[in-house]
Amino acid sequence: MGFKPVKVGICGLGTVGGGTFNVLKRNEVEISRRAGRLIQVAAIGTRRPNPDCDTNGVQITSDIFDVARNPEIDVVVELIGGTDVARDLVLTALDNGKHVVTANKALIAVHGNEIFEAAQRKNLIVAFEASVAGGIPIVKAIREGLAANSINWVAGIINGTGNFILTEMRDKGRAFDDVLAEAQALGYAEADPTFDVEGIDAAHKLTILGSLAFGIPLQFQHAYTEGISKITTDDVRYAEELGYRIKHLGISRRTTEGVELRVHPTLIPQDQLIANVNGVMNAVMVDADAVGPTLYYGAGAGAEATASAVIADLVDVVRTMTADRDNRVPHLAFHPSRLSSLPVLPMEEVETAYYLRLQAEDHPGVLAEVTRILADQSISIDAILQKSAPDSDLIPVIILTDAVQEKRMNAAISAIESLKEIRGAVTRIRVERLNG
Ligand code: HSE
Repeated sequence: MGFKPVKVGICGLGTVGGGTFNVLKRNEVEISRRAGRLIQVAAIGTRRPNPDCDTNGVQITSDIFDVARNPEIDVVVELIGGTDVARDLVLTALDNGKHVVTANKALIAVHGNEIFEAAQRKNLIVAFEASVAGGIPIVKAIREGLAANSINWVAGIINGTGNFILTEMRDKGRAFDDVLAEAQALGYAEADPTFDVEGIDAAHKLTILGSLAFGIPLQFQHAYTEGISKITTDDVRYAEELGYRIKHLGISRRTTEGVELRVHPTLIPQDQLIANVNGVMNAVMVDADAVGPTLYYGAGAGAEATASAVIADLVDVVRTMTADRDNRVPHLAFHPSRLSSLPVLPMEEVETAYYLRLQAEDHPGVLAEVTRILADQSISIDAILQKSAPDSDLIPVIILTDAVQEKRMNAAISAIESLKEIRGAVTRIRVERLNG
């Protein structure tokens, strides 16, 4: 290979930075056979050394901006996380003529439109495969592998920590906090774990998937986000009795009125493959008109799994760095001048089926009152489960409905909650059958 090595600067040597450094080194020859050139880490910006990395001979600085301005560097790999400093770092790297590879979902979801515009202006690449579902090459699959299709919807388990918690609650009846602490110790959880359990991390990733699937600008501010912290072991058990699993899903669907962008706990039929994705694993299902449903499964977090995606991006950058911007794969899958103005739908406009759990007094006619309210809102019932509760004067009633617009369900739930025979709030979990 006659080409000179491509010089890479890594900013951030934590879990993903360390993994990227080590895999690049370990697989150096194999990677260069693919890229056509040697990919060499020439500088690292980090405040703390990583004991898992032998960085001897590599220029280390505690100022990441030194890396972004370093004239020797061709590609800056941003692995510091967060949005503010990371945005400045990436814009500085672009200003200095560097291509960028990032694993930062929050950065892309929140500042991606601005960053891609700056990159286009400068004829530079910003690659972000590792930002969604860690090691699963889902960005490439949607952007390139499915380029022939009109995509109908994307649904994914895209937060490993949340999936780990739900799996352990179901399989072992473990307490929420205890499982979260384990996910943190394993290095899966975000620096602020509420990002995992409240669905913010998944909403960042879903924002990116929705834009890639439907060619709309990134609109994290319009994503509907609901976490898993209110899911009880009772709900998990009742869902199983009805033939469903509860998963924390990110769903983006195109309708004639707009694009749905929503993250929430969801009942999915037990016999769907994605219902059986357990622990910290991630999976993304894509339903498209020509190919039908496809499913992508793998490790969504972890040092080397995420490094796999970061390095795949580096190889892509190396292969196309000399191409003109109009001859590269567009950042958001569709040419920037051909993005769609289809709006993101407010949650009230979304249509889905529901699981409802209510605590009812055990009197004749209570269920009739509840079903009358549902009928008034044209909500059709799919199944009802009434449990006995020998130690209580309240009985749990579980209702599965057919699909209805969320605003009708909101009206029905308020009316049910105002019945004097119904105590406390009605639990509502959305149901998706994910039929292709
Ligand atoms: N906190 C994230 C997760 C890490 O648990 O999936 C990968 O983005």
